[in-house]
Amino acid sequence: MLDPEQTLYVYELKGGVPPAYLELDGLLGVWPEADYTYLFFTSPAEAILESFFQQHPGFSLTRHYQMPYGQWQQLAAQEPLIIDRFSIITRQQSVELMPGEILLWIDPGVIFGSGLHPTTRGCLRALSQLYAEARPVRVLDLGTGTGILAIAAAKLGAEQVEALDLNPMAISTAAANCERNGVSDMVRLIRGDARDHLPDAELLCVNIHFDFLEVFFDGPVLCNYRWAIIGGFLKEKLARVRELLPSCAKVKEPVLEEKGWITLIVKIESH
Ligand SMILES: C[S@@+](CC[C@H](N)C(=O)[O-])C[C@H]1O[C@@H](n2cnc3c(N)ncnc32)[C@H](O)[C@@H]1O
Repeated sequence: MLDPEQTLYVYELKGGVPPAYLELDGLLGVWPEADYTYLFFTSPAEAILESFFQQHPGFSLTRHYQMPYGQWQQLAAQEPLIIDRFSIITRQQSVELMPGEILLWIDPGVIFGSGLHPTTRGCLRALSQLYAEARPVRVLDLGTGTGILAIAAAKLGAEQVEALDLNPMAISTAAANCERNGVSDMVRLIRGDARDHLPDAELLCVNIHFDFLEVFFDGPVLCNYRWAIIGGFLKEKLARVRELLPSCAKVKEPVLEEKGWITLIVKIESH
């Protein structure tokens, strides 16, 4: 984890979804929002971004900030953050839990998956709803980020979770979070590309941007699972996502919506 005094250089880009994994010097993390992408660096990165913009002319720099990492952590933390049955903290502290409440101790660093983003919230609500009705024992979490969904699934009753991310920093952040939550034995973290590495599971969780989903669901891949939780897209893409889903997939209605972002709970009927 970073020193609180370490300066973070944060660049806000407009122009869509960046390539799935960016190999840029000093890049700590990538935080995609609806229309913007935030890149976090340990040192000034204007020169590095200059060559990125030459290769990706659709992108432009809209703003940049500089702040100590400790300040970023404070900005990111509104503790405890309550989402459905989950109470999320970023630092060790004693929290009084209500009966049935589940504590998640997630230090996100600069990795996506603090619980603040509506797509993460939607997936956590979906996990809680699904585990109230069923108990998937083997879970696959694609695009795990901080590991938040993998850890939540393990705490809800999953016994074996495989969690994948392209970004090595996400994998080390998720490993530290699994340790904090006492679920390291249940969660296997894999650095890999979800487009070509799909371990078997009963429940598939995927919270990756729409451009990824569009390619990912253009095939019968979902029929290999029993349930799926699908997040990462805005309401205007819902009709398109419904079209892409194979006929084995039955979406639970009404779909979940958080600030314009949709999460689906899907039951696969071929099983
Ligand atoms: C929106 S974040 C979701 C993080 C966390 N699961 C959550 O719900 O908050 C998406 C994550 O997917 C990862 N990712 C993007 N494309 C990927 C791919 N093709 N294969 C594996 N991981 C990918 C990113 O590095 C990022 O950590």
